[in-house]
Amino acid sequence: MRATARKNMTENLKGADSEHIPVMAKEALDFLQCKPGGIYVDATVGLGGHAQAILEKIQPGGMLIGIDRDKESIEKAYARLKPFGESFRLFHDNYKNLSLILNNLERNSVDGILLDLGVSSYQLLTPERGFSFQSDVMLDMRMDRSQQWTAADLVNNMSESELADIIYRYGEERLSRRIAAAIVQEREKAPITRCSQLAAIISRVFRIRGHQAIHPATRTFQALRIAVNEELDGLEELLSEAFSFLKPGGRMAVISFHSLEDRIVKRTFRKLAGQCVCEAPPELCTCPRQAVASILTSRPMTPGPEELSINARARSARMRSVERI
Ligand SMILES: C[S@@+](CC[C@H](N)C(=O)[O-])C[C@H]1O[C@@H](n2cnc3c(N)ncnc32)[C@H](O)[C@@H]1O
Repeated sequence: MRATARKNMTENLKGADSEHIPVMAKEALDFLQCKPGGIYVDATVGLGGHAQAILEKIQPGGMLIGIDRDKESIEKAYARLKPFGESFRLFHDNYKNLSLILNNLERNSVDGILLDLGVSSYQLLTPERGFSFQSDVMLDMRMDRSQQWTAADLVNNMSESELADIIYRYGEERLSRRIAAAIVQEREKAPITRCSQLAAIISRVFRIRGHQAIHPATRTFQALRIAVNEELDGLEELLSEAFSFLKPGGRMAVISFHSLEDRIVKRTFRKLAGQCVCEAPPELCTCPRQAVASILTSRPMTPGPEELSINARARSARMRSVERI
């Protein structure tokens, strides 16, 4: 994409929230092949950046169904998409309820589905949402604020080994055991309730080990965020279920921001394409080999240098896409 075209698209999509620029929007639209009159699902509608771009392509007659578990984001998306009138429906819900939503709308097939996984920059950059180790606010991290448990609940109530496992598995943090031990030691003195308090505890574990390229709390905060929001639980099932709503020729595009998510997306797409996903030698492989999809991205797509120069958050994005046969 030429630099000026991307700049214009970015300016158009910035909308009311200047921090929010949808990631790989041009590429996502190209994969989805959005066409007038088509029905599309944006299962992670966020502030509506991608949704707006889709709606612009599917007029006249198209319909966008948007879902997000974050009520504030849905409200902002609604305000942004209002000019599109009756062409969209938004739902404050978990995308795991996608089939229920589509069944209630009496839509048993759609032309395209987009998932832009994880947290939005709006959530990360709003201090009171409690995602950032740089803020002296309540340790919250819930995408859906009607959910009961917060990051503080996990940190203060999980056993040391459960905490260590989460920090290791979801944060890929080598010092998980020492961090979990430090957390447990501190919480015996007083509950850990604030982001900055937890960040300081983690920093002390690292201080003995010298300089770090990223903030020492980065990986632990990622791990807690994934655990609080159960981000990886049922993702594979959701992707397969969502795929089953695609019309023949319909497409799904998934943008992920860390390797744990990308691995699940890759594995699910390979299964749908009838490829082996087990570790067994070929003669013992029992993977079902019936292909219902063709993979459009043999390697994940990543943002180009122009996008990275205007949106640093895009740097870890990877997009994979499949088409229903
Ligand atoms: C990266 S942002 C999406 C940004 C969006 N594409 C845009 O252009 O504004 C991810 C969004 O997915 C939402 N989300 C994450 N997990 C979800 C789930 N299980 N169900 C519904 N929404 C979810 C988050 O609340 C967040 O708003």
